[in-house]
Amino acid sequence: MSQEKPSQTSPSSSPTSSPPSSSSPPQDSHFIGKKEDIVRARRVTRLVNGCRDVLVLYHQGELHAMDMRCYHSGGPLQQGDIEEFNGRMCIVCPWHKYKITLVEGEGLYQAVEDPTAKPLKTRWRSKGIKQRIHKVTEVNGDVYVTLNSSSEAYESDTYQTERYRANQLKSQPRK
Ligand code: FES
Repeated sequence: MSQEKPSQTSPSSSPTSSPPSSSSPPQDSHFIGKKEDIVRARRVTRLVNGCRDVLVLYHQGELHAMDMRCYHSGGPLQQGDIEEFNGRMCIVCPWHKYKITLVEGEGLYQAVEDPTAKPLKTRWRSKGIKQRIHKVTEVNGDVYVTLNSSSEAYESDTYQTERYRANQLKSQPRK
């Protein structure tokens, strides 16, 4: 199987989506669903490879994949709005409104330029990459995710451990 080149690559080599020209899925990729279903749903979540909760979303013609829980405190990003900040598309966490770029997983915030100057002026800055982004590949209408296995630690990793998942399941009300 051949590895597709991603259409967009982040500075930390955390690719998001690939052009739909592949003839076979990349090695180590995991089937997520039919593209038409994901486009219709706009976002889906999957436990990938039995170890990682991933959000796959469709926005403005692009598929993106990232860790499902927000790096700040584990908020459910699948419920976040998508908005543009400083020319970059971000998912806004529903819990505390942190902004995470879809392509790189960077945390964006507004910084005050000079606290002594009135009126205050702010500008957008980056906290760096906080959310682990995964690679999406489309093959003949099927969508696959390849987990980003970079050894670099991302803050969103905190909410992907077995222990966290087990505690979360325990705290959910039984039906
Ligand atoms: S948990 Fe996402 S902003 Fe706090």
